[in-house]
Amino acid sequence: MPLNRAATEMDCFIFLLPFLTTVCAGFTVSKPVGRVVAVRGQPVFLDCEFTPDPTSDLSSLVVTWQRVEDSRVIHSFYYQRNQLDLQSPDYRNRTSMLVSELRKGNATLRIEPVGPRDVGGYLCTASNAKGTDAAQVWLEYGAFYTEPRLSVKTNCSTVTLLYEAEGFPKPEVGWFGEDGAVLSHHTELSVDADGAGRPVGLYYLKSSHVSQSSSLNVTFTLKNQLLDQNLFKPVSITYGLPVQ
Ligand SMILES: *[C@@H]1O[C@H](CO)[C@@H](O)[C@H](O)[C@H]1NC(C)=O
Ligand SMILES: *[C@@H]1O[C@H](CO)[C@@H](O)[C@H](O)[C@H]1NC(C)=O
Ligand SMILES: *[C@@H]1O[C@H](CO)[C@@H](O)[C@H](O)[C@H]1NC(C)=O
Ligand SMILES: *[C@@H]1O[C@H](CO)[C@@H](O)[C@H](O)[C@H]1NC(C)=O
Repeated sequence: MPLNRAATEMDCFIFLLPFLTTVCAGFTVSKPVGRVVAVRGQPVFLDCEFTPDPTSDLSSLVVTWQRVEDSRVIHSFYYQRNQLDLQSPDYRNRTSMLVSELRKGNATLRIEPVGPRDVGGYLCTASNAKGTDAAQVWLEYGAFYTEPRLSVKTNCSTVTLLYEAEGFPKPEVGWFGEDGAVLSHHTELSVDADGAGRPVGLYYLKSSHVSQSSSLNVTFTLKNQLLDQNLFKPVSITYGLPVQ
């Protein structure tokens, strides 16, 4: 019976809890939040706190930051110094951890610059004379969309409104009429690339609306859900058809 099973699991949990607490009380690794959003152009801090040696002695301390998916080493500390020999080339010159903070039990990792390839799980493992423990944090990446740039093209029968902007991740885009009616549009997203052909962490957005009306009052909206960014661009245009 499902109810019974739930009850059994509950009992088990209640029984185990004091036991676990006792075993782990000596040494713990924790992180205040399980998910961190890295924003393009800013450093990201991945928190990891452990029980420090009361004498602030670092001689037995080993801290390793790794990617959860493939165990790539991001940053390590042992023999009383930052160790980068085993660091994945993907993270070269981008990470730092402060020795002064390690003395206090703070193994926060700083990464800068950040990009889409940094999205994923990060595992912080710490051990010293008091014990060993690990904690995970999930990193998301986003870039605020730039102020959308408007261009207007007209010919004798139609007007085309085009907005262009760059950001990350894919946004929700809409075009609305005066009464809130959903308007048709054509939207393209392409990955912005640097000289080496690698993505630089931005989508390039082009969104256009075509109308036959000579008097337009429409609103373009762009939402970047991850960063809670909402852009509203009202456009009001009246254009004269060529004089006969
Ligand atoms: C890291 O920095 C060093 C010294 O500034 C430089 O020589 C090296 O090319 C950099 N490595 C990468 C992968 O950017
Ligand atoms: C941990 O260290 C980082 C710098 O590496 C700092 O920004 C942060 O405030 C520290 N956290 C605590 C709880 O002291
Ligand atoms: C005017 O522009 C629209 C949209 O670009 C196009 O579909 C249409 O063929 C053009 N009409 C003329 C007469 O050029
Ligand atoms: C355009 O429509 C909005 C409501 O969607 C209205 O508040 C505004 O006055 C209109 N502008 C013009 C120029 O008609």
